[in-house]
Amino acid sequence: MELDYQFSAVSDRLVKSEIREILKWTRKPGVISFGGGLPDASLFPVKDIARITNQVLEEKGYLALQYGPTHGEAEMLDALVDHMNAYDDPATTEEVCITSSSQQGIDLISMLFLDEGSVIVIEKPSYMGGIQTFRRCGADMRGVPIDEDGMDMNALREVLDKLEQEGKKPSFIYTIPDFQNPTGISMSLERRKELLQIARDRGLLIVEDSPYRELSFSGEVLPSIWKLSEGKGVIMLKTFSKMLFPGMRMGWILAHPELIEKFVTLKQSVDLCTPSFNQLIMATFLKEGRMKLAIENAIACYGPKRDAMLAAMEREMPGELWWSKPKGGMFLWVRLPENVDAKDIFMKAIKNNVAYVIGRPFHCDNSGSNTLRLNYSFPSIEQINEGIARLGKTIKEIMG
Ligand SMILES: Cc1ncc(COP(=O)(O)O)c(C=O)c1O
Repeated sequence: MELDYQFSAVSDRLVKSEIREILKWTRKPGVISFGGGLPDASLFPVKDIARITNQVLEEKGYLALQYGPTHGEAEMLDALVDHMNAYDDPATTEEVCITSSSQQGIDLISMLFLDEGSVIVIEKPSYMGGIQTFRRCGADMRGVPIDEDGMDMNALREVLDKLEQEGKKPSFIYTIPDFQNPTGISMSLERRKELLQIARDRGLLIVEDSPYRELSFSGEVLPSIWKLSEGKGVIMLKTFSKMLFPGMRMGWILAHPELIEKFVTLKQSVDLCTPSFNQLIMATFLKEGRMKLAIENAIACYGPKRDAMLAAMEREMPGELWWSKPKGGMFLWVRLPENVDAKDIFMKAIKNNVAYVIGRPFHCDNSGSNTLRLNYSFPSIEQINEGIARLGKTIKEIMG
């Protein structure tokens, strides 16, 4: 008998990422890519990690190569809580569950709170990997536009009122308040407080995804929603991927201990535990005080790259374009005139040996065809200058 796969409902909702498809072009020789969201690999502390890896194997190989507790190795939990406190995000070990990076955090949250048809409220635009996960779960995503101060609170109220009229309650509000992916925009302090108040008044959970928070170029860091909430009604997602490196796949969830218990039970059925080996290496790295240095190095590297990109945009782009002025993080967001589709420009840009990612897939409702995202953390300053000149030329050609 011929094999007849009995796929799940989830498999029907898996859509190939349009961006992954077009990013293939960025590998064309000679192309300067502003496409990915990658850290600058010259920052990776390879020697320290090699030394610490040997040390961990010699001193604690019996622990490092063993299964570990689902919520995390005690050493790592302590080191993370110290890190959080140093960055003004108070937490206790009971409020932490270590994950295989924040994408797993998004997945665990989705499994815990979403059924097919569950409603979530999400910034427009927002992180594409989050949208993919929420879509896979069959979530009904309601977008709230953002402006230069982050999520528009009047629009949020309107979305929530409409949902109330429909008799629907969102499972959570998903936000990236610090140096957001994809826009680089941060939510103002007033809006953070307002968001918390709105969520409290309506009994709603907030999911605060925060991979870029430590990468502030000005030194200014607004209180996280987690901190403002004093740990009530907010789940925070953290990761080392952007402030350090993504290869270890280490992140953590911060939540009320009652929720952490739920995450731990859920995670047991997913992967039993996050690798002990990685945790012990990272715990030593943190305890040696190297994380602070690594973050300082990242800021010293990305700040001038952001400056170079902003200066190049001023020099090279036509006046009709708008772009964000990020104070941290890795991205710049560009709005083309309404009638220009970023996808139509893409192949012409590739011809001119420059690439970016189109903005539409960052929108839960497929809007934003006239937007695009530029990454400045990965390319060198020379590549930024040359690449933005090529992109400016391409856009001017299209716009006549
Ligand atoms: C907002 C946001 N959340 C989560 C992630 C996932 O990061 P990781 O799984 O590497 O921690 C990213 C990566 O780009 C991101 O930008």
